[in-house]
Amino acid sequence: MSKVLQIENLHVAIAGKEILKGVDLTLRQGEVHALMGPNGSGKSTLSYALMGHPNYEVTEGTATLDGVDLLGLEPDERAKAGLFLAFQYPTSIPGVTVANFLRHAVTNVRRPERQEGHELIPMREFRKELRGEMEDLGMDPEFARRYLNEGFSGGEKKRAEVLQLALLKPAFAILDETDSGLDIDAVRTVSEGVNRVAARAGMGVLVITHYQRILNYIQPQFVHILLGGKVVESGGPELVDLLEREGYEWARTKYPEAAKDEDELEQRAPSGQLTF
Ligand SMILES: Nc1ncnc2c1ncn2[C@@H]1O[C@H](COP(=O)(O)OP(=O)(O)O)[C@@H](O)[C@H]1O
Ligand SMILES: [Mg+2]
Repeated sequence: MSKVLQIENLHVAIAGKEILKGVDLTLRQGEVHALMGPNGSGKSTLSYALMGHPNYEVTEGTATLDGVDLLGLEPDERAKAGLFLAFQYPTSIPGVTVANFLRHAVTNVRRPERQEGHELIPMREFRKELRGEMEDLGMDPEFARRYLNEGFSGGEKKRAEVLQLALLKPAFAILDETDSGLDIDAVRTVSEGVNRVAARAGMGVLVITHYQRILNYIQPQFVHILLGGKVVESGGPELVDLLEREGYEWARTKYPEAAKDEDELEQRAPSGQLTF
């Protein structure tokens, strides 16, 4: 039976400011959805809230994975329940190699009862699996010896996320602006990796992007437009073409209420991208 990720009437606030104002989305395993919206519309807020970032406060609504209430779980428990988030800005961890990081992550997800300090998946077994996945993704085995994201190019960071995806095999993967900062060859390579890994594991995929480009390579069956913290429209791939032709101005004109909320968000947080 394929699993369902169900988001209903989700409201999320950051530092007391409401950013998401009632988002509904339903994903099934094996489906590819795109969530498109201009900068500041709340796309990353949705992904962080689903993953359980402590700064993102869910004030109303529900999110369940196969009936399990995600919002009551810690981030690691959400990962164990089958949710994965590829970050827009992956952090580097100097001193921790890609291989070591992945061995811990994979052990924790596959053995949910494991306590910190308990045994990891045996090295030989893990190495073999890692090597196989890297080969499959056309990655140089040396890559696994480097410190996680330390000095990685934009493309390498995203490929490291895809490698994680390949090993963790979540039921649902959220890819937040996976194409940002990548040149066209890297977008293609990373997308092909996502497609292969997702198809093999029968994942549900939510591709978050403000830009149509990556959707030429990871082709969604369902497309949702987020504006001012609300999904204003859902449809098929034709929405991607429409946005490409008409831009977000089309959505702002069609949904003036959401566009007004968007203006208010801008005024409250004019600096745009904020970090923690
Ligand atoms: N940590 C934060 N503190 C305050 N406001 C934030 C924070 N993160 C995001 N915001 C605001 O929330 C809104 C949505 O941001 P975000 O979810 O990052 O949008 P998107 O990913 O669609 O570009 C923006 O107005 C942004 O300025
Ligand atoms: Mg974002």
